[in-house]
Amino acid sequence: MSERHMMADEELHVWAYRLEAKAPMDVLVTAVENYAGGIVLASSFGAEDVVLIDMLHKLAPTIPVFYLDTNKHFTETYHTRDRLQERYGTTFIQVLPQITLEEQAQQHGDKLWEREPNLCCEIRKVEPLKRVLSQYEAWVTGIRREQSPTRANAKKVEWDEKFNLVKFNPLADWTDAQVWEYIHANDVPYNPLHDRNYPSIGCSVCTRAVKSGQDPRSGRWAGHEKTECGLHK
Ligand code: ADX
Repeated sequence: MSERHMMADEELHVWAYRLEAKAPMDVLVTAVENYAGGIVLASSFGAEDVVLIDMLHKLAPTIPVFYLDTNKHFTETYHTRDRLQERYGTTFIQVLPQITLEEQAQQHGDKLWEREPNLCCEIRKVEPLKRVLSQYEAWVTGIRREQSPTRANAKKVEWDEKFNLVKFNPLADWTDAQVWEYIHANDVPYNPLHDRNYPSIGCSVCTRAVKSGQDPRSGRWAGHEKTECGLHK
């Protein structure tokens, strides 16, 4: 365990305790005050992320926002990115995998996502995330506790063991309804796929619409045991 980690760990427990009852904007204020210059927002342009983009724009518009571009996002997702860029005047940092889709097909065979989704996520999401996060001290994500059992214990601020930096989850205790209330109240541009039964949106080749009443994440890697791609423990 590094010294930086141990110091951060003690502080983070106190912070997490203090931030638990705070609203997302207050969590963002703490994040920005303590890590200005070393903090970044991770966005897939999903419902939670557009809320955070809007909040950060109001609070600290210079904080960078990146997206992991797997080259396999839905057209609607790329359009949402463009609409957000237009609305907020932000240029989102595009983080690409080390190999193109063609190189991936040459090295691992065609349609790797169908045969080995974990390897595909590792190449197109996890390695690029590791690379970008190594440049920062803290990151902000849109994960919420009610999204899945693996996220049920997410703190508003915590140490990210996997990527070795501080992780802020300002929306950790928000419900889906709160997210949508914020989007509508603030007229935030959002991915139109959400209106077509896609509550959780990843790559187009691995995301399906869900039926009403189904687990909102059941459309992710449908047909595989997989429920997480490795960005969040
Ligand atoms: S995933 O791990 O299953 O793909 P999910 O789609 O629920 O994650 O998104 C949770 C959070 O992870 C988002 O709010 C965002 O902070 C981050 N995230 C997910 N996908 C991306 C992406 N392509 N680029 C940047 N951040 C992402």
